Amino acid sequence: MITENNGRFLIETDHTSYLFYVDPAGFLTHLYYGEKLFLTEDGIDAMIPVISNQNGCSIIADQKESTVSLDDWCQEASSRGRGDLGQPMIELVYADGSRSSDFRFESFRIERIKEQPDGLPGAYKEEEQEGSSLVIVLRDQKSRTVLELVYSVFEECDCITRFARVRNEGEEPVRILRLMSTQLDVRTDGQQKILSFSGEWAREMEPVETILSASRFTVESGGGTSSNKANPFIIFGETELSETYGQCYGFNLLYSGNHQETLEIGGHGRARFLSGIHPEFLEITLQPLESFCSPEAVQTFSDGGYQQISLHMHAFVREHIVRGYWKKKERPILINSWEAMYFDVREKKVLKLAKEAAKAGIELFVLDDGWFGKRNSDKEALGDWKDNTEKLPGGLAGLSERIHAMGMKFGIWVEPEMVSENSELYRAHPDYAVTVPGTEPARGRNQLLLDLTREEVQEYLIREMTGVFTRSRADYVKWDMNRNFSDYYSQALPAEEQGIFAHRYVLGLYRVIRELTERFPKILFEGCASGGNRFDLGMLCYMPQIWASDCTDALQRARIQNGYSYGYPQSVLGAHVSASPNHQTLRRIPLESRFAIACAGVLGYECNLSDLSAGELAEIREEVKLYKEWREVLQFGQFYRLKGHAAKGRFDTEAVRWNIVSPDGTRAVGITFQNQVLPNYSHRYLKTRGLLEDRIYHVYNRSLKYDIRRMGDLINTVSPIPVKQDSLLHGALSHLVQLDGEKEDHIVTGSILNKAGIPLASGYQGTGFEGNTAFYQDYDARIFLIEEAAPAEGTGIREAVSRSGGK
Ligand code: GLA
Repeated sequence: MITENNGRFLIETDHTSYLFYVDPAGFLTHLYYGEKLFLTEDGIDAMIPVISNQNGCSIIADQKESTVSLDDWCQEASSRGRGDLGQPMIELVYADGSRSSDFRFESFRIERIKEQPDGLPGAYKEEEQEGSSLVIVLRDQKSRTVLELVYSVFEECDCITRFARVRNEGEEPVRILRLMSTQLDVRTDGQQKILSFSGEWAREMEPVETILSASRFTVESGGGTSSNKANPFIIFGETELSETYGQCYGFNLLYSGNHQETLEIGGHGRARFLSGIHPEFLEITLQPLESFCSPEAVQTFSDGGYQQISLHMHAFVREHIVRGYWKKKERPILINSWEAMYFDVREKKVLKLAKEAAKAGIELFVLDDGWFGKRNSDKEALGDWKDNTEKLPGGLAGLSERIHAMGMKFGIWVEPEMVSENSELYRAHPDYAVTVPGTEPARGRNQLLLDLTREEVQEYLIREMTGVFTRSRADYVKWDMNRNFSDYYSQALPAEEQGIFAHRYVLGLYRVIRELTERFPKILFEGCASGGNRFDLGMLCYMPQIWASDCTDALQRARIQNGYSYGYPQSVLGAHVSASPNHQTLRRIPLESRFAIACAGVLGYECNLSDLSAGELAEIREEVKLYKEWREVLQFGQFYRLKGHAAKGRFDTEAVRWNIVSPDGTRAVGITFQNQVLPNYSHRYLKTRGLLEDRIYHVYNRSLKYDIRRMGDLINTVSPIPVKQDSLLHGALSHLVQLDGEKEDHIVTGSILNKAGIPLASGYQGTGFEGNTAFYQDYDARIFLIEEAAPAEGTGIREAVSRSGGK
């Protein structure tokens, strides 16, 4: 809810309050953002800063009206020129070369923003969310430039979004040097903990904690995309912050290009957070009556550590970012051809893979790179979106028909934003490529970017992709993008407009994908940029899921998906089971564990099923069946991390421990992944979060068998005849004798599971393999299934629970 009273503005969500006011001089002073307040008018007055002593070098913004120095107090929108010496949210250069702004409050209105301006993606609001946005209008006193600050409220997920718009209402041009999307100033004791997400290709979303005591911390991307190096999602708060403790703020940006987030602690303990388009890649001149709009940023508050930030952000992404036909629909299990055949796409191979996949119950076949033009390696053919009929004699249409006839959906890979120099497109239109004439362009993956700032390039892409999607009768599209920007230049823009190239590219991309997703509303789009090089809320406004990483090694993937889980729900993460040894790390990980990690996202398979053993195929059939039964929980349940991102103690041997609970609390799945087993330590517990305390649950695991070869030559401790390790005999025995996995089967209250946890079967620890022993060694994983159960008659459990008040 948004209310205004006498220049005091209050934005309330279900559990938070955000408060600011217009001071007598017209500056917007931020008063509070945090746990919901019980407020009275006098109470608000008491929160307003009044200062009677100026410090030795303070600058007073308006001597007549106020004694407040803007540098000492929290602001809503800082600029240069009136004494706020922190980083500005907006920085302008006026026609006379001056850079001093003086934005003062002029008016406000409360309305519903139906569509984000300038073709930017915006958080999705239902029709009935009338009056969900507050627009504050500020005006620069000299140039008459208008700055609008727009706040929107999303009550039920405790999120507030912000963006800013500048309009030149003067008579001279105004140059924008920076316009950030959001600013949050908070009072601190002079120290903050920041959780940001760094990375690289195949190492996306590595959580990094930093303690900041002074000066500035920056996260930024400069490669043209939101980047795998620095995701725009970030959390900061008190230094004691942990998974479940502490007050903190979480932020993200609805933008897919270069961005910057900074946190700065000033001399009076004011922490200033800014997020928006990276100022170094934004230089634009506004002629009279022209305007410029920043992307939308989202923020939330938690008084329960990182976990609560994640729950709020997940709800926001599910409800207000992802939209359209697939928003609430269960996503199909797919098989992707890439790691099964790379560029060597041939119809026979493709159909064989599809047939195996269909037999396993997989629902969607995705033909990855290598199907078009003369594409036999990553050196050629990008841009030539014609069927390669040597590889696919019936073209895409014929192949799609045969896949559909197998009862599967058909999906296709494209990388529309790129061009290979060895392509028909490049030969016909070299100027479509992003190069600076007269210089040798730098290549990335041997390819060049297409200049999406140009309308004719956008039109070409829309036309070509419409052709591909139509003739392939695509049910799914993987939209890839595999290089960073190096030249920031369009041959079609005048010299003075080159400073806006990067942003114009992103707007061009949004136009193309908006048009295509509207034209093909039922296609399930999955974004991709060498994995997670463009994993952001901007893309998710158009594409309901993104390929999280090219690394499918389950251990590394566990870390990567754990990192994403801080800001993104599992329904948007593409996650595949791939071959062992893994193609990125050459690490061997059991199939069960690869599945356990991939099933905590949108499940797919990406390996050559035709080469797998009958046993492995049977295992996959079981996995697919299980996933379908639990898909709603796995894709749309509340996601809890039961341990932080780093090992905390000597016995913390697991890479991840997750618990996913259905929205109604009646079903849940627990997933754990053993990193490195510790000898003589088998005191494992199953603990959960988010189950209903007063309900009774049946907790069980899958009954699994283990290959005796994993015991190596220990087989000789039980075998009547000597068996040479890895011999033919060893192999033959492994088909006859298998080790029984442990059995877990418990009826227990949600309260016990959430609070006390229950002990699990002991793990193997070098002293025999008898009874209910868990084979939980390096890289093993476990999946626990939890379902609400009716208590057996006369057990008295429910009575006992209700006597304790279910607490
Ligand atoms: C990128 C993607 C992969 C695959 C290849 C194809 O690397 O991230 O998943 O599609 O391109 O070239």
